[in-house]
Amino acid sequence: MSDIIEEINRLKKEKDAIILAHYYVEGDIQEIADYVGDSYKLAQVAAENPAKVIVFAGVNFMGESAKILSPDKKVIMPDLKADCPMAHMVKPEDVQKVREQYDDLAVVCYINSTAEIKTVSDICVTSSNALRIVRALPNKNIFFIPDSNLGNYVKQMVPEKNFIVHDGYCHVHHGITKEQVETSKAKHPDALFLVHPECRMEILEMADYVGSTSGIINYATDSDAKEFIIGTENGVFYELQKKNPNKKFYPVDKMACCTNMKKNTLEKLLDCLREEDGEVNVSDETRVKATNALERMLELAK
Ligand code: 13P
Ligand code: SF4
Repeated sequence: MSDIIEEINRLKKEKDAIILAHYYVEGDIQEIADYVGDSYKLAQVAAENPAKVIVFAGVNFMGESAKILSPDKKVIMPDLKADCPMAHMVKPEDVQKVREQYDDLAVVCYINSTAEIKTVSDICVTSSNALRIVRALPNKNIFFIPDSNLGNYVKQMVPEKNFIVHDGYCHVHHGITKEQVETSKAKHPDALFLVHPECRMEILEMADYVGSTSGIINYATDSDAKEFIIGTENGVFYELQKKNPNKKFYPVDKMACCTNMKKNTLEKLLDCLREEDGEVNVSDETRVKATNALERMLELAK
């Protein structure tokens, strides 16, 4: 294993590459990454970092967003088949239909979406900036795509606007049940329950804190509490435990695993860096049209 890590580090220097990893990938990749973060932070790094090559250990929409924000860089992924099913749950026709029905409308697109959908959206958001961005938009009507759970959470928190919420969902978070939360809380009565807004509303209502992966990690790290029940994909345990060796973390659902994120392995990462394959390609036409929604997000989230 140490041979693989040495070789990755050597190739990184030789090729002027950086490795970005989402909190849901395996711990061994998080350990060697130059930046580990939530979707927002990783998009910011992709836009700003001067490296020539970005190796993105995450899922497809993350690599695409990096390429759109940094078209002159080569963006490669250890496994191009690592794709987020929710990203494909909304189609341009769905957006067109709603645009025809509402004036004064902003199409707000969760970054977990395809590049094609970003071309027909007004602005992107991530789970860490959705509330702030939607509140700041001048429009009265908001079409939130594709995640119904994040959309309904934002709708509840921003009652002054009118929401049309698309019906997509993340199967990993949507699958977490009330019974699982009740069982975990009964087993760990002193623990706080921290949850990602991709979970269903009835789960969010049981939480002590709702936030993105970074939000959850920061909340647990800053808290005086010693035990936490975690309602998100289990990859976050790596950073939670690393930052808080004396605190205890329990998964609300041991099976909350994103198999797409787990398609990234150190071996595949080495291969793609060595061969520079697994390149993310976005056509110029799509890239130019999709840039606006992503850049507006980076601007408004500041
Ligand atoms: P964040 O890291 O932005 O919280 O997103 C979670 C997620 O599902 C990424 O696919
Ligand atoms: Fe998509 Fe859910 Fe996996 Fe995130 S955890 S990449 S939203 S399937």
